[in-house]
Amino acid sequence: MSLIRLAYASEATFSPSPVHSGVEPHVARILLASRRNNARQAVVGGLYYGNNRFFQYLEGEEEAVNAVYDRIRQDERHQGVTTLLEEPLKQRTFDNWSMKYVPLADDVQRMLQRHGLASFEPDRFDRNLCEEMISVIRDSNGVERVISDQARPQGANDGLFTPGIRKGLVLAGATLVAALLVGGTLLLP
Ligand SMILES: Cc1cc2nc3c(=O)[nH]c(=O)nc-3n(C[C@H](O)[C@H](O)[C@H](O)COP(=O)(O)O)c2cc1C
Repeated sequence: MSLIRLAYASEATFSPSPVHSGVEPHVARILLASRRNNARQAVVGGLYYGNNRFFQYLEGEEEAVNAVYDRIRQDERHQGVTTLLEEPLKQRTFDNWSMKYVPLADDVQRMLQRHGLASFEPDRFDRNLCEEMISVIRDSNGVERVISDQARPQGANDGLFTPGIRKGLVLAGATLVAALLVGGTLLLP
């Protein structure tokens, strides 16, 4: 049994949906699958998405990491998958994260500025930048809960009632008001 670490860069094939808060929906779906699968195989790591590019770091048992990476490479939601780092690892460096997601670009922006880079293009990262990126992901707080339109947790509806029941209640209310108005008009002398 031997541990390895792996980092790659790729470019998303989807057009990003505008997000005002939270995680871009395509990325949210990727994260949900990643967390489900990686936890089972004790693969840990982090994902960064910016400038429609991905940077992902994975560590775990060699077989498990390779199996995950084989699946990832075939995914049509991204292209140009470039391995940046792949090497043996003495001991794990990420605790308790099946796939940590870093939404805040601030740290990454600062890192790019320090290196005089205008945009996030991880396929051009050298070893040094890769290590810095991994540290940024490791040190960030990460996003624990991801809600996508595919898998909303129970009780995640915006109000007390489901949209169907809400519609029914509004209709019943409107009918009652109309009945009262008609009834009132008929009773007028
Ligand atoms: C950028 C990117 C990163 C991904 N990372 C992971 C990952 O860490 N683990 C994983 O299982 N799937 C990951 N996926 C998704 C896989 O490609 C694949 O869709 C998924 O493993 C299928 O899992 P399922 O059969 O449980 O739906 C990633 C996909 C993309 C595009």
